[in-house]
Amino acid sequence: MSLITWTKEQYGTDVSIADEQHQKLFDLLNILHNDIPGGNKTVIGDSLDTLLNYVVEHFQTEERLMQEKKYSDYDAHKAEHDALIEKCTDLKSKFLADEQDITTDTTVFIKDWLDTHIPNIDRLYTPTLNS
Ligand code: FEO
Repeated sequence: MSLITWTKEQYGTDVSIADEQHQKLFDLLNILHNDIPGGNKTVIGDSLDTLLNYVVEHFQTEERLMQEKKYSDYDAHKAEHDALIEKCTDLKSKFLADEQDITTDTTVFIKDWLDTHIPNIDRLYTPTLNS
């Protein structure tokens, strides 16, 4: 069962590389979400690593494109990215230290972040990145 499903209407940015990466992000988030009921720490840890590594790769892609086009809202957009990375790095550290489980609260938190960020923040760069 999918936690999040990409549709052009809800998440499309009209920037092809961003749309492709968002779809892969959703796939990786769904994999982590579906691993959680089994509770296998190794499996969950591997899926979490894969997701977080791809989040970093995606943010770096967007940030490079925004910088190349001298996007005026770059700093605010990057600050949003940095805040999520900081939060996820903290979650991962606590998970590895057995101080906090990765639960569906975690995956729903990431889903909610994407639900807000992609339509409201990512879509703002579309005219600049496609110019
Ligand atoms: Fe697609 Fe700004 O993250």
